Amino acid sequence: MSAVEFKKVSKSYESARILNDISFRINDGEFVSFLGPSGCGKTTSLRMVAGLEKNTTGEIYIGDELISDPAKNLFVPTKDRRLGMVFQSYAIWPHMNIFENVAFPLRMAKAPMDEISKKVEEVLKLVELGGLSSRMPNTLSGGQQQRVALARGLVARPRVLLLDEPLSNLDAKLREKMRKDIREIQQHFKMTCIYVTHDQVEAFSMSDRIMIMEKGNVLQFATPAEIRANPAGDFVRDFIN
Ligand SMILES: Nc1ncnc2c1ncn2[C@@H]1O[C@H](COP(=O)(O)OP(=O)(O)OP(=O)(O)O)[C@@H](O)[C@H]1O
Ligand SMILES: [Mg+2]
Repeated sequence: MSAVEFKKVSKSYESARILNDISFRINDGEFVSFLGPSGCGKTTSLRMVAGLEKNTTGEIYIGDELISDPAKNLFVPTKDRRLGMVFQSYAIWPHMNIFENVAFPLRMAKAPMDEISKKVEEVLKLVELGGLSSRMPNTLSGGQQQRVALARGLVARPRVLLLDEPLSNLDAKLREKMRKDIREIQQHFKMTCIYVTHDQVEAFSMSDRIMIMEKGNVLQFATPAEIRANPAGDFVRDFIN
């Protein structure tokens, strides 16, 4: 597991500035949510950790490793960052059964077959899908499909798990259960997690710390209790009420 750090990271698309020199550090083993209204830059920030977007300026670290710095022309590609990712659209492959979907990151890493079987069965049990490995995705419910995506994100023991609104397609009851399950799994592995959401209930119930963003800026980065007790300005106060 690893820390994640941004040092004065900005992102612009042509003339539009999306992120304004943001700096923060997420500690090893910490569960952090990026919280803020639509368009504030949460997904863009997460995608830069993943290597799915390039920052325009600034430095990004995973652990002690500098993974992106345009000034040095340095950009470590996604496949070499050793991350797990779970998105809102489950993005599991319809033509592969559950086992093969979850095994995919291990196959890419050319892990031996016996190790793949063992790890896939283990992680499927952890997300409560033990016994479903030969089923096809279209025979699973939305919640089960998202568990497959979660299992795939976890199976290679990533340095950091990145989640972007992973529960927004699920009904309220299932969402609540999944929140608990994700948090339990995170604590079980003492895994660094970044969780993007615009749902404050979700952020406040799951996170060690919350980073509140607005219009490409970080307004506050603190524990839920600190934010409730001492919101950094009117926007934060209104947003969390
Ligand atoms: N490829 C792109 N080209 C131009 N602008 C973009 C591009 N991708 C994102 N943006 C803009 O960057 C801003 C931040 O987008 P981002 O997806 O990070 O928001 P978000 O906080 O994740 O919002 P949401 O809660 O709606 O998912 C938005 O104004 C968006 O329109
Ligand atoms: Mg988003």
